[in-house]
Amino acid sequence: MIKGIYIHIPFCNIKCPYCDFTSFVWQEDKLKDRYVEALKKELLMYLDNDFDIQTIYFGGGTPSTLKPEKIAEIIDFIKNNVKHQKNLEITVEINPKTYEYDEFKIIKDAGVNRISIGNQSFLEKNLTMLGRDHKPEDSYKTIENCLKAGISNINLDLIYGIQNQTLQDLEKDLEIYTSLPITHISAYMLTAYEDTPLGTLVEKGLYHLPDEDLVYQMFLMIDQALHNKGFERYELSNWAKKGYECKHNLFYWIDVNFLGIGVSAWSYIDNKRFGNTKNINEYLENVEKGIKPVKFSEVLDEKKKLEEKIFLGLRLKEGIDVDLIKNKDLLKELVDEGYGDVKDGRFYLLPKGIMVINEIVRKVL
Ligand SMILES: C[S@@+](CC[C@H](N)C(=O)[O-])C[C@H]1O[C@@H](n2cnc3c(N)ncnc32)[C@H](O)[C@@H]1O
Ligand code: SF4
Repeated sequence: MIKGIYIHIPFCNIKCPYCDFTSFVWQEDKLKDRYVEALKKELLMYLDNDFDIQTIYFGGGTPSTLKPEKIAEIIDFIKNNVKHQKNLEITVEINPKTYEYDEFKIIKDAGVNRISIGNQSFLEKNLTMLGRDHKPEDSYKTIENCLKAGISNINLDLIYGIQNQTLQDLEKDLEIYTSLPITHISAYMLTAYEDTPLGTLVEKGLYHLPDEDLVYQMFLMIDQALHNKGFERYELSNWAKKGYECKHNLFYWIDVNFLGIGVSAWSYIDNKRFGNTKNINEYLENVEKGIKPVKFSEVLDEKKKLEEKIFLGLRLKEGIDVDLIKNKDLLKELVDEGYGDVKDGRFYLLPKGIMVINEIVRKVL
């Protein structure tokens, strides 16, 4: 049973130097319309599956580079073709300054009830260092318009670990974030992916990421400040007010089937994980010919499923069943050294462990 649908919108107004998501600076409406038609056609190719969806998530790229009527059109199309629950959670990722009140109102009327804003920081020095094309005022205005249109379930993204960022800078940012009427904060450590301009700069020594210890202090500060203001961490990078955890994202971390449509989108259906091509032309041509644009696919056997359960479960606050850790010496070592703890028969990571989660997963497996 498919419970969530992800829709990838790969268009952006600029390409940020740190970004390795599939996204292109593509302004032409005609091509965007063609893409939306392809999304609809792709969805139709999956209608032989069982659906009872609880969530729709528009991610990017920048979904708000589409006209709001297009978002509404896609939602209507899904609702007309797929069995869905009445209280659907429908999220749209928005970049500051792309939507004003009227645009928010249109998507609100179409059923959107959750907005995720790619804010990153309220400090100009950070926004400049990240190569963002918006100012702090743009974010305040975007939040105000969103609320005015009646969407009050709002996530703000935050990036930390930026060149020249100090703990005092982060403290200022957190004060602003927690003073706003929002329900959710996703905080990501800046990652310099290979093959991005940031990756190249870091490699050449022209951009300096803060050292590990400072990044750890930053994580502790975020976790503590958000907790003090009523945001609880429920996943490595996600904090929410009670009852506002993102249902759609939780589907990725627990064993729930979801369909992803659009260029580069991933799906997980009946123990099979598959991903679409990252090439937009190939995507469009295949879908228009009635061919699924799937490029990668793997069946998860029992061993792989167990590995996923451990890998994904460790991201979550409730962690994993202690019995999944066969090496009891390792378990003891992880607890004794403060990487994690055990409660009610479950092992979960503490901040020190979160910082080295990949290493811990490797040891546990
Ligand atoms: C799918 S992206 C798109 C959001 C939106 N287009 C934007 O940039 O405002 C979602 C979030 O991932 C985070 N992100 C993207 N690249 C990152 C990187 N290299 N390191 C850390 N966080 C990153 C940012 O916080 C971003 O808002
Ligand atoms: S970070 Fe967001 S706005 Fe920037 S290029 Fe990536 S998807 Fe586009």
